[in-house]
Formats: sequence, structure tokens, C-alpha cells
Amino acid sequence: MTWWKQERHSSRDGIICDGSVRSGKTVSMALGFVLWSMETFQEHRFALCGKTIESLRRNVTALLPQWLEGICTFEEKRSENRLVITIGQRRNHYYLFGGKDEGSYALIQGMTLSGVFFDEVALMPRSFVEQALARCSVEGSKFWFNCNPEGPEHWFYKHWICKAQERNLLYLHFTMADNPALSPAIRKRYERLYAGVFYQRYVQGLWVAATGQIYDMFDPQRHVVETLPELAGERYVSVDYGTQNPTVFLLWQQGTDGRWYCVKEYYWSGRAQMRQKTDGEYADDMDAFLEGTRPRMVIADPSAASFIAQLRQRGYGVQGADNQVLTGIRHVSELLSGDKLRFSSACVHTRREFQAYVWDEDGGGQDRPVKEHDHCMDAVRYFVSTVLTRNQARVRKRPRGI
Ligand SMILES: Nc1ncnc2c1ncn2[C@@H]1O[C@H](COP(=O)(O)OP(=O)(O)O)[C@@H](O)[C@H]1O
Ligand SMILES: [Mg+2]
Repeated sequence: MTWWKQERHSSRDGIICDGSVRSGKTVSMALGFVLWSMETFQEHRFALCGKTIESLRRNVTALLPQWLEGICTFEEKRSENRLVITIGQRRNHYYLFGGKDEGSYALIQGMTLSGVFFDEVALMPRSFVEQALARCSVEGSKFWFNCNPEGPEHWFYKHWICKAQERNLLYLHFTMADNPALSPAIRKRYERLYAGVFYQRYVQGLWVAATGQIYDMFDPQRHVVETLPELAGERYVSVDYGTQNPTVFLLWQQGTDGRWYCVKEYYWSGRAQMRQKTDGEYADDMDAFLEGTRPRMVIADPSAASFIAQLRQRGYGVQGADNQVLTGIRHVSELLSGDKLRFSSACVHTRREFQAYVWDEDGGGQDRPVKEHDHCMDAVRYFVSTVLTRNQARVRKRPRGI
């Protein structure tokens, strides 16, 4: 918060804080930024940048008045995305930008700024960040960055963190132990939430590449059951659709033990069987798979437009799946490590794919799975992302226990 006042750091051009989630990066940096800008400038302009304006409001500007109560007064000109902060006779202007929001790039282009604060900078496009920095022409302006780690090939890691010294930036690494508000029990809970590469990045705070098995927390002893427990409530089917590639249906229902079970699997590989099926044949197979019953919803591969239409004609409720790959993989990992997701031993292809599904190590620094042995894995992800995980505006009612 006060590095800019300390003699040994005051000549730096900015600060980078990276490290684990919930370690206090955003709070300490946002407070520091406001205090620095208010003490140093009068009637100047600054940029506050988040991944989107929405997330910036939620994580930062909505909370500032509470954090700085009795020190500053805040007035938000919402239609201009401008925040006016006042301390006594001093006043400055803070413009809100979302690095991923259409139009932010163009808006920031014409401004002259005395400082920029980037919350979660690794989630913003490089072009936006560099444009914002180029606007800082005022003497004494500083850059403030924070983020959680991504892969070591990420542009922010390579060009900013590794070059912090030569760019004359102070670099601080945070861990959850730096947040005095986290009790050991809550900290443990966060630690348990993440697994695999997400644990290394979000808990340990390391810029590591995603390599090897994606679901390395998948343990057949734990996640595969010979006998299903008593099941109750709504059933869902998730679908990965292929014409050349395999088509998969997975049937899901919650156990009375609170876990979700993948009860049954359908798998057809046109290539392996040397015969492709039509949408009508696949829909017949779906009828047979469900023995004529209807689930609450079919969650389908969003690209399977003609098959979706076919299912709807037959009276199925169908929803296009949320297809954000990395977020979905993270959610599946979390549920597996929390032992909230289990599979019937009858789901043989799914079981096999869990072992074979790996990160693409030639991905040019991008986190992405090898697009092989991924059909059941996509169907698992579609179900989890669309039905089970939080903040899904499209699914109004979250099933119990998750
Ligand atoms: N120094 C602190 N004292 C009290 N509470 C803190 C402190 N730092 C962070 N917190 C609280 O901990 C939570 C996580 O902090 P945040 O800054 O959002 O973490 P990060 O940006 O590293 O994910 C927030 O609810 C915040 O209010
Ligand atoms: Mg944060």
C-alpha cells in the first residue's frame, strides 16, 4: 500500500503483485493506488482496469468506499464510467475500463493518464494493456499490476514479470499467508478446492505450464463405483456430437449421498464401426438410451445444431452447453478433488478417457487439451459447466448440494 512512499522504492515506475488467489493483492493494491494518486496529483486522470467493467465494479470500485470510509468521498458518474474521488480540496478522476470489453481499447486511446491500475492483468489482451500504458505521459505516473499466474509462456510473465527489474518495477509475490483475514480453516478450504495445474497456479502462485494428464486427481478407486447408491431427483443427459468423430451421451443423476453420478454412457464411433449414423438414428439411440423417458434437460454440444433440432422435435428439452474449455476443466477438477462426482463402472469409455486426456504441450504456451480421447471428457465438462457450477445465469436453479 505504501511502497511508493518508501525511499528505496519511490523512484520505481510501478509495481507488480502476483501470486495465489485470495492473498490480498486486489485490496492492498487498490488502496495503495487511491492513496498514492490522491497524495501526488490534483485534478488528474487515471484508469482503473479489470477484465470487464462488471468484474472491476464487483471486485474493486463497489468496495472502495467501505475500505476508505472516513478518508475519501466517492462519486460515481455511471454513464461515463467515471469515479470522482475527493479528499478535502483534492480531487481526481478515475475512468473504468474492461480490457475484454469491446470499445475499451478505442476509448482509452485518446486519453492522457497519470497512472493505471490493472486488476487481473493476465486476463486482458496485451494490446489493451500496452495501449493504456502508452497513455501515461504525465511526469511521475506509475503502473500498478496484479494477477494470478498462468502458464510460463504468457506474455505478461515473459515481458513484464521476468523483466520487472529492467523495467524499473517493484515485484512482490503474494501467498495466502499474506492475507491476515484468512483463518487457517478457510485457507485449507481454498487449498482443497484446486487440483493439478490449478493448485500450482492459484494456491502455490506459480507460473507453471499445464503438462501431462489433465485430470490427474481422477482416481478409479474413488471415482468409479460398481454399485450405484440410491438416486433421486432430476436427470440430465449431456451430449458430445460427432459425425466422423464419436458421439457420446452421458446420463446424470444425484445420489442421496449428495454426489452426482454418471449413471450410464452411450458411445458410437462412426469411424471405428465403419458406419456413420444420421441425426434420426442418433435420436432413436437417445430414445433407447433413456428407455422412452424424458430427462429434465439434454445439454448438447452447441455446434450440433441439426441434432439439437431433431431432439427438440421429439419433445426433448435441449440446452446448448457452456463451452468455455478451461473454466470447465477447472470446475470438473474441483468436483473430482472434492469427491462430488462419480462414475458407474459401466461407463467404460469415460473411464478410459480420464486416463488418456492430456494437455497439449505443443500448444505454443496456450493451455489446451490434446484434441483426442476427448469426447466423453467434453460431455462431462458440458454437464458440469452448464448444470452444476455457479454464476450460470442461464440455469436459474442450482441443484441441491453443490
Ligand atoms: N490485509 C487485509 N486485512 C483484512 N482483510 C483482507 C486483507 N487483505 C485481503 N483481505 C480480504 O481477503 C479477501 C481476498 O482479498 P483480495 O484482495 O480480493 O485477494 P486477491 O486479489 O489476491 O485474490 C477479500 O475479502 C479481502 O477483503
Ligand atoms: Mg484479486
